[in-house]
Amino acid sequence: MSKIGIDLNRFILEEEAKNPNATGSLTQGLLAIENATKIIASHIRMAGLVDILGKAGKTNIQGEEVQKLDEFSNNVLIEQLSASGQFYALASEELDEPIYPEEGKNAKYVIAFDPLDGSSNIDVNVSIGTIFSIHRRIGDGEENFLQEGYKQVAAGYVIYGSSVMFIFSTGNGVNGFTYDPSVGMFLLSHPNMRIPEKGKIYSINEANSKKWVDERLVKYIETLKDEGYTSRYIGSMVADVHRTLIKGGIFGYPADKKNKNGKLRMLYEASPMAFLIEQAGGLATDGKNRILDIKPSDIHQRTPVFLGSRKEIKELLEFLN
Ligand code: AHG
Ligand code: MN
Ligand code: MN
Repeated sequence: MSKIGIDLNRFILEEEAKNPNATGSLTQGLLAIENATKIIASHIRMAGLVDILGKAGKTNIQGEEVQKLDEFSNNVLIEQLSASGQFYALASEELDEPIYPEEGKNAKYVIAFDPLDGSSNIDVNVSIGTIFSIHRRIGDGEENFLQEGYKQVAAGYVIYGSSVMFIFSTGNGVNGFTYDPSVGMFLLSHPNMRIPEKGKIYSINEANSKKWVDERLVKYIETLKDEGYTSRYIGSMVADVHRTLIKGGIFGYPADKKNKNGKLRMLYEASPMAFLIEQAGGLATDGKNRILDIKPSDIHQRTPVFLGSRKEIKELLEFLN
């Protein structure tokens, strides 16, 4: 029976019920993420009005300080995830060091997130997102976050676009939910997402090509042009990966002379997206190694990343190795 249209809460609860060992902790953690992203989504819709609704003296009509959206998103996630009591530690792009919430001192999981991805696109009303990655707690400190990506228990993103979508995986494939504002719920719209074996789009900031460390990448992109590929680059990883997941092709952010290890961060950008893309049947690499096999050594470590359809990533690896 098709589950299309069922809401995210029920979906998560039904998934949990299939696992006889589940304690409900991951379920509650995922529901906290869902709540936080609903709050973020409603604020993003107001982004263009922030100036009008009250920046005078940097306070809004309720007398609160007007926060930048990435600061706001970060705070909402920290509040909701801490209060859920399901996370022993939280790492965020916007925090130098992880937070260890009091409510989570006996919790089983840790979570890393990019509260607002693509923030340069906010002012121009282009899609942005939130990315998250959950691992099991294995110790007391940073080691919790320095685990390989293949050990993720769950990963996902929310895209704030022409509609809001929640895409996630707990290792049993990828499912996508679209927000229905009239009922205030995410409804299953994209069950069991599979990335096409091959696509027609490449997505890379080609303006950097003269600075790319590996010139063989330029040759590879040239062959894609010869084969009739077209180019799309939004500059929000969430939006570029979302399109790649649905339409196939390749997304990449390579190392260049300025960003020697690439620009994107392993824990809360490359690794969760690699997990989703592989769960959907695609591949993700840093140009040599499978992203999910790399053991990070730093919470904010960067990595080159290429992900997408099997055909394109395999071809790319032949060019680069
Ligand atoms: P963030 O807004 O979280 O800092 O991330 C921005 C990232 C990512 O979303 C995108 O893929 C990339 O920056 C775009 O970088 P360029 O502008 O250098 O192409
Ligand atoms: Mn980002
Ligand atoms: Mn960000």
